[in-house]
Amino acid sequence: MNNKEIVAQAVYEVVEEQLTLAEVERLLENPKSVDHGDVAFPAFSLAKVFRKAPQQIAAELAEKINPDAFEKIEVVGPYLNFFMKKEVISSMVLKEIAKEDQSFGDSNIGNEGNVTIDMSSPNIAKPISMGHLRSTVIGNSISLILSKIGYNPIKINHLGDWGTQFGKLIVAYKKWGSEEKVKAEPINELLRLYVEFHERAEEEPELNDEARAWFKKLEDNDEEALSLWKWFRSESLKEFNKIYGMLEIDFDSFNGEAFYNDKMDEVVTLLEEKHLLQTNEGAEIVDLEKYGLNPALIKKSDGATLYITRDLAAALYRKREYNFVKSLYVVGNEQSGHFKQLKAVIKELGFDWSDEMVHVPFGLITKDGKKLSTRKGKIVLLEEVLNEAKDSALAQIEAKNPDLPNKEEIANQVGVGAVVFHDLKNDRLNNFDFSLEEVVRFEGETGPYVQYTHARAMTVLGKADFTVDPEAVYALNDADSWEIIKLLQSYPEVVIQAAEQYEPSVIAKHSIKLAQAFNKYYAHTKILVDDEQRDARLALVHAVTVILKEDLRLLGVHAPNRM
Ligand code: ARG
Repeated sequence: MNNKEIVAQAVYEVVEEQLTLAEVERLLENPKSVDHGDVAFPAFSLAKVFRKAPQQIAAELAEKINPDAFEKIEVVGPYLNFFMKKEVISSMVLKEIAKEDQSFGDSNIGNEGNVTIDMSSPNIAKPISMGHLRSTVIGNSISLILSKIGYNPIKINHLGDWGTQFGKLIVAYKKWGSEEKVKAEPINELLRLYVEFHERAEEEPELNDEARAWFKKLEDNDEEALSLWKWFRSESLKEFNKIYGMLEIDFDSFNGEAFYNDKMDEVVTLLEEKHLLQTNEGAEIVDLEKYGLNPALIKKSDGATLYITRDLAAALYRKREYNFVKSLYVVGNEQSGHFKQLKAVIKELGFDWSDEMVHVPFGLITKDGKKLSTRKGKIVLLEEVLNEAKDSALAQIEAKNPDLPNKEEIANQVGVGAVVFHDLKNDRLNNFDFSLEEVVRFEGETGPYVQYTHARAMTVLGKADFTVDPEAVYALNDADSWEIIKLLQSYPEVVIQAAEQYEPSVIAKHSIKLAQAFNKYYAHTKILVDDEQRDARLALVHAVTVILKEDLRLLGVHAPNRM
């Protein structure tokens, strides 16, 4: 129970005849300052029924309310200010966490509804970029958070495995490529060919026509085009899977753009039936002026389909296949125009579920203030970043804890965790500059700091040889522990907030606050004392380990017991 529920219950008991429990709860307010207590009840709405001044009602209620859970109930004008009794709240919260362990904060709000999450979605034959990393880790965390509150997430990797770039790549490969080189280093070599194509096409624009012709062949199932495409795709996927393996992230579907190749006629037919298609200089478009948007280009004059055509087919397919209650697209904010168009066309088709399609955008990762771009070959290769982060974590562990038995494994969990946490700790829409040194710091607001705090708390429990007892009463009443108790108690609401906003940073920020509060507590309070406070304090430490670990789990980050 949270404080509002406790207060609501206590107030309800004395106004049962006038208000329902839900009505009382709706009236409760959060006081602006701690001096006004933890929860406030305004008595105005009772003035009519009681035919008395709200001030007088407040004073009378204060007399009647069962005071057990409260330190005091103050009457300030028409308000009742409730100050929660620390012992009562702390024992209630610690009991719940002791009893339910990792499940604290679980709920069934989602009612097992399917939520498709379009995430990661890198492009074949190009390195997976930092932007794709963002999509991967944000999407993964959202899926974990949604599943904690009872949704059934479906992670879909909408691979960029179709489009004119394959025409370019086939041209470049046939002119300047070699099989051995692609086999040896697929992504680097394919990227090199792609970059070479763009450089040369600046001088020789005819190359672009050749590329278009090859893509058309691919769409028409030309055998040579198809076999090259399949080969590029499987070589690329092998490399992507290495990275997904390092992140320990998996997908429910790898249906990429090519999967919709034979499902686009349906889109075109539907659009025609609803008289939504217009011809414009030979191309087929849907006018979206009434949405204040540019027209959506469905088919080019040569009949080739586009990115949005495939996304329309994908949306119809997902609705049919999964009957989603929400359909999320975790894609950089530079594509927000595209997703507005996508939603608008689905709406024009008369599907009201277009309202459930949500673009979950995020900001750019920059390097020295500049955008990372694949086209010019300037890219921070993700695998390198993850490997460097791991090395740096290993060096810090060597320095701090050289006797640790499984250093390599822990370094991996810390290094990867650092990169992931760094990505998730800021509001997802913020741009941020990537600096490896900052990512792997053991201090400050970093993943390693939270992991380290968790390990430290685990060590305390180990030394004390303490096992938490869900039947025991653990009552605490000091100010430092109260800060922790409040952070623990708010956890279920924090999880819901993160889910509603599709915002993993809400969880990351909670973990940082909790880690900071614990470290402050640990510095001020002797835990292994010789009196009845010892067990209560250890139960608090235990609860901190449970919730820090759960915070990290929801971000997709390990919480090693030692580091
Ligand atoms: N492959 C695209 C890119 O790298 C992202 C795809 C996002 N998902 C989608 N359904 N459009 O830009």
